[in-house]
Amino acid sequence: MDLLSNKWIVNLLVCCLFIGVGCNSVEKKIYVHLNYTVPCVRLLNATHQIGCQSHLSGNVGVLHVLESEENVDWVLRSGPNPPYLVILESPLFTRSIMMKLKNGSSRVAGVAVVAPSANPLEGVSPHTTCPNENTGVYTENYDPSLAHCNVTVWNPLGSGLSYEQFDFPIFSLKDDNDTQVIRQCYMDHNRAVNGSTPQYPLCAMQLYSHMSAVTDTATCMRRNDINFSISPEMVCDPLGDYNVWASTRPINNTAKGHKMWESVVIAAARLDSRSFFFEVAPGAESGVSGFVTLLAAAHALRNATQEAPPNRTILYTFFQGETFDYIGSSRMVYDMQNNNFAVDLDNVHSVLEIGQVGLRADSRLWLHSDPVSRKNDSVNVRKLIESLQTAAKGLNVSVNEPGFSQPLPPSSFQRFLRARPIPGVVIEDHQSAFTNRFYESMYDNAEYLNISYPPNLTPEEQLVFVTDTAKALTEVATVVARALYIQAGGAESQLEGINADPQIVTRMLYGFLIRSNNSWFQQRIPPDFMSHLTDRPTNFYVGVAQQRSELTHLVQYLLANLTGSTANISQDNCQNQREDEKDKESKHMYSYVWVQGAAPPNSTKREGFCVRSTVRLSKALSPAFDLRDYTSKNYSTWTESRWKSIKGRIFLVASHDLEVNFPFTPQRQHMECRFNLHLWNRKIPNCVCVYI
Ligand SMILES: *[C@@H]1O[C@H](CO)[C@@H](O)[C@H](O)[C@H]1NC(C)=O
Ligand SMILES: *[C@@H]1O[C@H](CO)[C@@H](O)[C@H](O)[C@H]1NC(C)=O
Ligand SMILES: *[C@@H]1O[C@H](CO)[C@@H](O)[C@H](O)[C@H]1NC(C)=O
Ligand SMILES: *[C@@H]1O[C@H](CO)[C@@H](O)[C@H](O)[C@H]1NC(C)=O
Ligand SMILES: *[C@@H]1O[C@H](CO)[C@@H](O)[C@H](O)[C@H]1NC(C)=O
Ligand SMILES: *[C@@H]1O[C@H](CO)[C@@H](O)[C@H](O)[C@H]1NC(C)=O
Ligand SMILES: *[C@@H]1O[C@H](CO)[C@@H](O)[C@H](O)[C@H]1NC(C)=O
Ligand SMILES: *[C@@H]1O[C@H](CO)[C@@H](O)[C@H](O)[C@H]1NC(C)=O
Ligand SMILES: *[C@@H]1O[C@H](CO)[C@@H](O)[C@H](O)[C@H]1NC(C)=O
Ligand SMILES: *[C@@H]1O[C@H](CO)[C@@H](O)[C@H](O)[C@H]1NC(C)=O
Ligand SMILES: *[C@@H]1O[C@H](CO)[C@@H](O)[C@H](O)[C@H]1NC(C)=O
Ligand SMILES: *[C@@H]1O[C@H](CO)[C@@H](O)[C@H](O)[C@H]1NC(C)=O
Repeated sequence: MDLLSNKWIVNLLVCCLFIGVGCNSVEKKIYVHLNYTVPCVRLLNATHQIGCQSHLSGNVGVLHVLESEENVDWVLRSGPNPPYLVILESPLFTRSIMMKLKNGSSRVAGVAVVAPSANPLEGVSPHTTCPNENTGVYTENYDPSLAHCNVTVWNPLGSGLSYEQFDFPIFSLKDDNDTQVIRQCYMDHNRAVNGSTPQYPLCAMQLYSHMSAVTDTATCMRRNDINFSISPEMVCDPLGDYNVWASTRPINNTAKGHKMWESVVIAAARLDSRSFFFEVAPGAESGVSGFVTLLAAAHALRNATQEAPPNRTILYTFFQGETFDYIGSSRMVYDMQNNNFAVDLDNVHSVLEIGQVGLRADSRLWLHSDPVSRKNDSVNVRKLIESLQTAAKGLNVSVNEPGFSQPLPPSSFQRFLRARPIPGVVIEDHQSAFTNRFYESMYDNAEYLNISYPPNLTPEEQLVFVTDTAKALTEVATVVARALYIQAGGAESQLEGINADPQIVTRMLYGFLIRSNNSWFQQRIPPDFMSHLTDRPTNFYVGVAQQRSELTHLVQYLLANLTGSTANISQDNCQNQREDEKDKESKHMYSYVWVQGAAPPNSTKREGFCVRSTVRLSKALSPAFDLRDYTSKNYSTWTESRWKSIKGRIFLVASHDLEVNFPFTPQRQHMECRFNLHLWNRKIPNCVCVYI
């Protein structure tokens, strides 16, 4: 990741060469800012590299707007001016077309995909059909007949495009007036009319997304080491972040390893998602539906677990990096096995995981469990299923079990089972294959979860409007909360007092899927986090290890607010993790966050306060990197390449020669270019703009 411009905006600069020919629409708009233009970047694992890249000096090609799949022949064979930079409308961004372009990459300079403003009707998933196939519990050693999604193909729509390697850059463009300029440039200059060959000048595009890392993780980590001794210039970084967890009873977080009397019921959900393009990871159904449900359930349990605490502790865990071979859960299990976590595996009583729960048909939930460990009598899955059945009584939710021999869907719980047989259930909205038709795609968004608002509401009115989706997830959260309470040993007589709050669920859905910059989030975060809230949905791509993403922080602060209590202590003591100047013990049991709160009615000054909670972060870095085992078969080995610049522009080229040499043609250097220099490091002297 380009650490200097973590939050970059890619600008696409449109610039014409002055060649005595009118530039039509392009000349009217010399710069085009495409704010949501994003690349596909290179990722590496133990054996492969996937993703995309350009040459160091960018890839240049003559624009070609692909009109149909048959039209690919122009790009690959008949077109007279290769290489081409192919503009694809999203319905044509298919595996079939992309593999043809990949195969003909000598004539393909790059691809720009125009993202639609509304979701497609048919399902699309660039992910694999069998997510995390090699790192779950179902390997040849566990039960060969269940390995490799033999029984259930979870993501049948998966094209696997996200796991292909391309030798050219692929960018996503937002469909707006700016993309219209690109189309127009193509129409005016490059389109073959009546079978004639288009003449120069031609409209061309240049995309830069050169990647520093090559081959595989072992190779790039070795490079990192070599380079580090000379200069601290890294070529790749392990994917990762931090898990967020909290417990219903304070646990001494400084004392790692086994806790004599502790027995914990783990309630888990995953945080991250991905898509084909970098940092485009809306994850509404695949991640948000589950973790918002768990946050709401944790809140619903606050009173009951304080006033009538059940014998067992409930441990809420939110895992990061699960998309990439279970980074977060494998790390927590590893830490539990190595006395490096506040509790160890012997303390784990059972696991309840909330998976994809946002798209329930007929209000049904499916309780998935593992057919292998369940055969062992000591693994009491039945009790957990009964807890869920009891919890669902009287609610508008029916809980069902899928076929007895069906293995677990992809889930963090599989990493616990890999370590030892533990009773557990994964709650999903699907009986077998995913209901989610947009798994790990850019369309798994608020629109897909059916989050919509009456027209003409202001953002703050939308924030508090309780959507049907929020009502439905509230019911699921109530079931989860009640089931956890029973599973932890609580009395059924308390269940009626355990209810998730639709007002909170709707605000969280709004905050994560529509706009994180809203008054509800603002009141629950520290003042210095304000600048991280945006008017866009939160990004759920995991990012690189040892950086805490905005998502991790948000979940940390919300979980503290929803499960913790307000502490009447000074800002100074709060930020120093203590109750008062003399206190040295509390920090082992609690964490403290100073949040900015709200401004009272006739003031503009917020009144901050301290939140005391059991919320903690723990590393979500694959153990493979601690073990320096970069070809590990047990643990995730995913790394992300670094890059220097991601950018693109369009311009007219006067001849084949110019197009190939651009932008290094010396004879062009006298001409001046009017660039928006905002993101380009300096003026590129040989790019020339039109002055009218
Ligand atoms: C892009 O961002 C600029 C400045 O932030 C803004 O003025 C412009 O309207 C945005 N363009 C689009 C297409 O959103
Ligand atoms: C790849 O391209 C070659 C020619 O360059 C062609 O013969 C071959 O059939 C193509 N393969 C596929 C899978 O399209
Ligand atoms: C699935 O497992 C069954 C039972 O072990 C086996 O007969 C079958 O060949 C397997 N199918 C695949 C595609 O591996
Ligand atoms: C690395 O990723 C590639 C592409 O998804 C996959 O085929 C391969 O099995 C992965 N390697 C390992 C060791 O998981
Ligand atoms: C985009 O184009 C439409 C019509 O083509 C026009 O009404 C609208 O104002 C344009 N938007 C911007 C931001 O230029
Ligand atoms: C293309 O052909 C049609 C009919 O053959 C003709 O009317 C039209 O003018 C031609 N267009 C150009 C740009 O030559
Ligand atoms: C050091 O890093 C640079 C770029 O980051 C790379 O070009 C070079 O090959 C690296 N050196 C070694 C020895 O790998
Ligand atoms: C927590 O554990 C640490 C390390 O074992 C110990 O020093 C500390 O006193 C403990 N605190 C409490 C409140 O148990
Ligand atoms: C928790 O208890 C307090 C007072 O005891 C009450 O005001 C609040 O509504 C309760 N919250 C929930 C979620 O039941
Ligand atoms: C819960 O705690 C009570 C009182 O300590 C005890 O009597 C009971 O057996 C415990 N229940 C379980 C399931 O451990
Ligand atoms: C959560 O945040 C709200 C808004 O700032 C505040 O009113 C409430 O007291 C907070 N709860 C806790 C436990 O800090
Ligand atoms: C507004 O502020 C004034 C003076 O600070 C105070 O007297 C008044 O009660 C406040 N009104 C409200 C609604 O808080």
